[in-house]
Amino acid sequence: IKTIGVLTSGGDSPGMNAAIRAVARAAFHSNINVIGIKHGYYGLINDEFEKLDTHSVSNIIQRGGTTLKSARSEEFRTEEGRAKAAENLKKYEIDALVTIGGDGTFTGANKLSKEHGINVVGVPATIDNDIIGTDETIGYDTALNTALDAIDKIRDTADAHERMFLVEVMGRDTGFIALETGIASGAELALLPEELTHVDEVKEQLHDMLKQQRRSSLVVVAEGDETGGAMKLADNIKDDFSQYDVRVCILGHVQRGGAPTARDRVLASRLGAAAVNVLMEGHSEVMVGVVNNALKITPLRVAISKKKALDHTLIDLARVLR
Ligand code: F6P
Repeated sequence: IKTIGVLTSGGDSPGMNAAIRAVARAAFHSNINVIGIKHGYYGLINDEFEKLDTHSVSNIIQRGGTTLKSARSEEFRTEEGRAKAAENLKKYEIDALVTIGGDGTFTGANKLSKEHGINVVGVPATIDNDIIGTDETIGYDTALNTALDAIDKIRDTADAHERMFLVEVMGRDTGFIALETGIASGAELALLPEELTHVDEVKEQLHDMLKQQRRSSLVVVAEGDETGGAMKLADNIKDDFSQYDVRVCILGHVQRGGAPTARDRVLASRLGAAAVNVLMEGHSEVMVGVVNNALKITPLRVAISKKKALDHTLIDLARVLR
């Protein structure tokens, strides 16, 4: 391999920069050239290529966002779009592509490889932590801590005013952030997309708890929860709990920004370097991950075949401890 391309795609996550840096530095260490592709698959189609050197990835390990920018490209979902992308890769004599992102990113990479014989490796980076083949995705730990910090602050004011707060965290399809912040913040309830939650059930559980003389309460709601998110849930329960002055706080994109935690920087560094190594070993259409603290290679087709399941022992634990 003489030249590797690297891009970030889909929703950004803290630690993407650390992963870009690791890909570049590991490649330079083995005398491989690196071309950064801006704006993910959009830039791959529209020729936004720039050669990286060791200086271009200096001083970025601590920064959130992605210096290569990210985008969601509709055109790349089409065969024509992917054909244009493949032409560009050939034009720049790129032998292999490292794609940093989530399941949408990997689905695109897998198609590009199958249709045009491009070597690809995926590096899992999403705050949702919903990718199988790795215990954690890059950015998850940071998002978790950002959300937790906000929830702790909300708890203080909820307590002072004896209010009920519904705090919405990200997670369109998965409840990793909601479950773990729920446990870590001592929330009364955590509502997860993986579980069918009915508004009546929520009301019943809250009534039970409030009977036990609890004066303030905090419910963490994943944005993809069955009840329709925190705003809708508040509308549906506020009359039943009018004595508590129900309030909503949607944490939103705050969870996607900020400096990555040490854990995310180390994970990103390991996975970025591993991506280069597996390409040099001749692998393609795979994702690199860390499972039980060891590097693991998973075929992309497996990584995109289903969402990672929540740990049911944690769901049970949350019920016991609330
Ligand atoms: O996939 C990461 C994620 O942050 C989800 O949790 C969220 O639903 C989605 O991206 C939001 O995407 P966008 O920033 O494009 O609105």
